[in-house]
Formats: sequence, structure tokens, C-alpha cells
Amino acid sequence: MDPKPLFLNVLWLITISSSGFVVRVGAEYVRPLPRKTLHFPWNSRPSSHPQQVHISLAGDNHMRITWITDDKSAPSVVEYGTSPGRYISVAQGESTSYGYLFYSSGKIHHTVIGPLDHNTVYYYRCGGQGSEFQFKTPSAQFPITFAVAGDLGQTGWTKSTLDHIDLCKYDVHLLPGDLSYADYVQSRWDTFGELVQPLASARPWMVTQGNHEKENIPFIKEGFQSYNARWKMPYEESGSSSNLYYSFEVAGSHVIMLGSYTDYDEQSDQYRWLKADLLMVDRKRTPWLIVLFHVPWYNSNNAHHGEGDRMMATMEPLLYDASVDIVLAGHVHAYERTKRVNNGLPDPCGAVHITIGDGGNKEGLAHHYQNPQPKWSEFREASFGHGELTMVNSTHAFWSWHRNDDDEPVRSDQVWITSLVGSECVAEKGHERRKSLLAP
Ligand SMILES: *[C@@H]1O[C@H](CO)[C@@H](O)[C@H](O)[C@H]1NC(C)=O
Ligand SMILES: [Fe+2]
Repeated sequence: MDPKPLFLNVLWLITISSSGFVVRVGAEYVRPLPRKTLHFPWNSRPSSHPQQVHISLAGDNHMRITWITDDKSAPSVVEYGTSPGRYISVAQGESTSYGYLFYSSGKIHHTVIGPLDHNTVYYYRCGGQGSEFQFKTPSAQFPITFAVAGDLGQTGWTKSTLDHIDLCKYDVHLLPGDLSYADYVQSRWDTFGELVQPLASARPWMVTQGNHEKENIPFIKEGFQSYNARWKMPYEESGSSSNLYYSFEVAGSHVIMLGSYTDYDEQSDQYRWLKADLLMVDRKRTPWLIVLFHVPWYNSNNAHHGEGDRMMATMEPLLYDASVDIVLAGHVHAYERTKRVNNGLPDPCGAVHITIGDGGNKEGLAHHYQNPQPKWSEFREASFGHGELTMVNSTHAFWSWHRNDDDEPVRSDQVWITSLVGSECVAEKGHERRKSLLAP
């Protein structure tokens, strides 16, 4: 079904970037057409059978296991251990369900297991029956690799993106919003859950919400009901009162997930929580500070141009004062990487912003760009793909972008990023940082 990889007039380009000396593969590239939404055949099995298994980090050394059963009396237990078929531990969790117009969900189970060892394979079973799954916990030390893909949907391109990610060695999946493209049709959340299960049951998937998660109906339905029920993230574990924003730490990286579709003004709960979370970051423990949200702040594509401006106006000063290294966003169905930037201008003490909303959704790619290319924009291309971000050590990270049309190891864009921790930025900003972060 997949077309043959296209290798057209590949040119090797050597470029110098602000982050050092990089080798980059560029190409005259013929863009492929969108692909259709996948067809999911009816799958008959016992109603107590666990479906849509996915896992997420849940505080230090713990993992949350989420799955769904049609059977409302199925137990929320997870049995697990470090050898296949030998479950020496068992944990009891909680469950929820929801109704949406004429749809009623299955029983959605959330069970936190642990404490777990680092860098260890665990075998587990949900609800006392069904298939055995396995996952690997992230290591406690560098290096650690994040796979990054946003705006996934459930098309032939989504499948291609997931197949590519499956071939790479990574520890945690980061998803900057727009998961299923269910768009009010709740059964599509179920088919999305089945589609991602092979990957999402094996590595933690840390997600934040996009516009396609909102699904609100004025006067009838508040937003994010299905998303919050199905994709519970560690917000309680990170002192947040909403599943729409939270943070977590893994191997020397503090990762903050923000909500583009919930209040972010200075009086908002999200803003107050972000300030408090940034103040608690210890750059000795977590030299890398990474932020994700859905609507990009630095976007030179015509699609969604300027949509992130209001959130940027209130929150960018906080991120700048805290010396955030990398910001990952989605929403625009294309790939773009910036230089370090702040307040609309290249700035060696600002963050590198990467838009990676090219996971494979049904709406297709965003081809039209603003010209001339802004000074802060370093690389932009409308193709489906995913990113890989390896925190090599406390000072060096390696980012690469992988097009679906190329074989997985081919890097269509790559760059070394050096942490701000070792730079003068953190010391220089010390005074200002205190002013803005500690202001009441
Ligand atoms: C971190 O990794 C980079 C890239 O591999 C290397 O050049 C550098 O020496 C490393 N630094 C430390 C402290 O190990
Ligand atoms: Fe979006």
C-alpha cells in the first residue's frame, strides 16, 4: 500500500547554525497526496476483554495503565512483573465512564503501578485477563530519547508515522495535541485507541490537548470530556488542578505540558500553576527544560498564522525568564524549526521552537508560507513525519525530523541544541527572572 520511498535529487547541504556545526540533508521534494481515513473492521471478543491499552508516567517511578472494557463489572486491576507470565505484583485502580449524546463509553480503567525500576522491561496484564503487554521504563540518566508527533488522526499517513516511530529507539512519546480527530463522533476515540495501542502500551505517551479534543456543544456539553476521561495525565502528581496542564520529570528533563484551549491570562489558574512549577525547577537535577502546547507561537505558515499570539504575550516572558530550552507545538500541519528566539526576534537566550503538527491527520498538509521567511525561522517544510529528541547529556541534545516518505533512519533535518544551563543566559537573567516569577 505504501508508495516506494522517493529519493529525488537529494542534495547534501552543509550549514552553520547558531547552535554549532551541523550537517543537514535537504532535498527537492515531491509532496505526496493525503491518504484516506483507515477502515476498522468490527472486532468481536468478550466484553471484559481489555481494549485500547496505553500507559503514561505518573510521578516518580510510577506508571499509569489505562484501558477500556465494554463490561462495566470488569475489575481495574493490573498484574505485573519483570518476567513474562509471572506477575509478582498487583495494583488496584479506579475507573470512569461518560455519555455523549447517544454514545456511552465503555468502562475506562486507570491503574497506577509502582514503584518501578528504571530502564527495565515489565510484563503486565489488565483486568485479570486478555493478552500480556510489555513496556520499558525510561532510564534514570542520560541519554534519553523522546519521539514527537502531533496532529495524528487515524489515516494511512498516521499508520505510516506510527510505523516509522516503531522503528526508532525511544523512551517516551510526546504529543503536542490533536489525537484522534474524533470530532464529536465518539466511536472514533475507540478506533484511535486501538490504532495506537501497539505503541502506546509499550512506551509512555505524554499528551496535551488540541482543538480537536474540545468537542464542546454550547449549553449542552463542556469541552474535553472524552479527552479527560480517556487520556488522564499526571496533573494531580504535578500540583495542577486540571488535566489540561501538568508537568513531569524524566532523566534530567523537566517537561511542561500547557493548554492552548484553557485560560492562560495572568489571573488564570494555569498561569499561576505555571509560575509555581517553573520556580520549582532545579536545573541541577533537570538541566533540560522543555515545554509543549498545541498552537505554535512561532509559525511562518499561512495556516493558523498569529493564532498563538495572545498566549505568547502572557506566557513567553515566564518561559524566557526560566530559560526554557525547547518548545514543541502542533496544530499547523507542517514542520518548522526556529533559531533560539524571544519576543519575535532571534535571541541566544530564548527557546528553540519546533512545530511538528505533521503526524498524518485527515485534513492534509499546510503548504503555504509567509514570505520572506522570518529571520527566526530556520527550516520549514510541509510533509508528514515525526521528530526524535535525544538528550545526550546535560549540555547537548540532538533533534532530528524524519519524513514518512523516507526510510526511518533518514534525517531530513537535524540540529544539535546546547542547553542554556551552561550559558551566560541563566546568570544574566537571574535578576529579571526573580522579578517576573516571584511577582504576586
Ligand atoms: C556531551 O555530549 C556532546 C556530544 O556528544 C560531547 O561533545 C560533550 O563532550 C558531552 N559533554 C559531557 C560533559 O560529557
Ligand atoms: Fe489543531
